[in-house]
Amino acid sequence: MKNFTEYFEQRRLMVESELEGSLELVADSPLEGNIEYVFSMGGKRVRPLLTILAAEAVGKFNKDVLHAAAAIEILHNFTLVHDDIMDNADTRRGKTTVHVTSGVNTAILVGDLMMALAYDCLEKCSKEHLREGLQIFNEGVKQVCDGQALDESLSKVDGATMPAYIDMISKKTGALLMAAGKLGGLLGGGTSKEIDLLGNFGLNIGIAFQILDDMLDLEGDVERFGKPRGLDIIEKKKNYLFLKAQQSLDEKRFEVVNAAYRKSSISETDVVSVRDTYRDGGIFNAAKNEVADYTVRALESLKMLKESDGKDALVELANSLVQRKF
Ligand code: IPE
Ligand code: IPE
Ligand code: MG
Ligand code: MG
Ligand code: MG
Repeated sequence: MKNFTEYFEQRRLMVESELEGSLELVADSPLEGNIEYVFSMGGKRVRPLLTILAAEAVGKFNKDVLHAAAAIEILHNFTLVHDDIMDNADTRRGKTTVHVTSGVNTAILVGDLMMALAYDCLEKCSKEHLREGLQIFNEGVKQVCDGQALDESLSKVDGATMPAYIDMISKKTGALLMAAGKLGGLLGGGTSKEIDLLGNFGLNIGIAFQILDDMLDLEGDVERFGKPRGLDIIEKKKNYLFLKAQQSLDEKRFEVVNAAYRKSSISETDVVSVRDTYRDGGIFNAAKNEVADYTVRALESLKMLKESDGKDALVELANSLVQRKF
């Protein structure tokens, strides 16, 4: 049995140094310091790790894979900078968010520049796979925008449904993990069948990842999660918990949730009573089961890949994400 902690750590360190190296490409920009700040905030680096492991599962972890891994992480960080503006989030990874330190206008530009930087990193890949790599990457970008737009609109309507929620998170979160898996498969030298399997793996762990994120919004380790507790309720998000509650709680219990969502300003006490209602109504357990189900679906996609260290590491990654507390 491999020591996966070390295996992951080595690869994360390579991603860090690739990210740091990319700053050179914005060295003349007045926004360079802001991007450096975003990189220094930390993060789990799940997506670039997925790209690297996917490449190792079907072939080689080469330089192109590292370029694409950095591109995916930069893209992800750009989406977070804009997401925090949209969600009125003052902290992320335990640090003050960019629109709070530097203002909304600057944060919009930091995000925009990060997107260009992400393309710069991807463009370093050798010509052989560049066209297909760009298509995969861009599909991810477009889906995240659609997913974020759907997230916004779901929070504003009354008739949100569970299928609409799953579609929304497949786009806002699943699509980037899908692109991360596919890029690893492509640049590692996989066949188109293998690339599809790795994309499907990414999509399903992405869906599981977002449902767990919705849960951690109320049940996470606040220090390590690094995001304000209960922000989804404060922002009236139709997240997994809300939609499951709508589906399965009796009228009296669901009214506690609905009443909070109707308020113009939600207090800490409201957040606690919604959380307790979810707890008593088995909503967190349902979320856990759903996360486990999507993880099983993800693991199914790996079964058809040949045995390799990369494949074992992907299994480990999926299983460790289910257990995460932040
Ligand atoms: C946060 O992603 C956004 C979601 C899709 C839930 P992560 O939880 O991967 O964020 P970092 O990069 O580790 O901070
Ligand atoms: C995921 O949704 C964000 C993106 C896909 C950019 P959230 O809004 O739930 O992410 P967090 O909780 O702020 O990290
Ligand atoms: Mg959001
Ligand atoms: Mg958010
Ligand atoms: Mg969230």
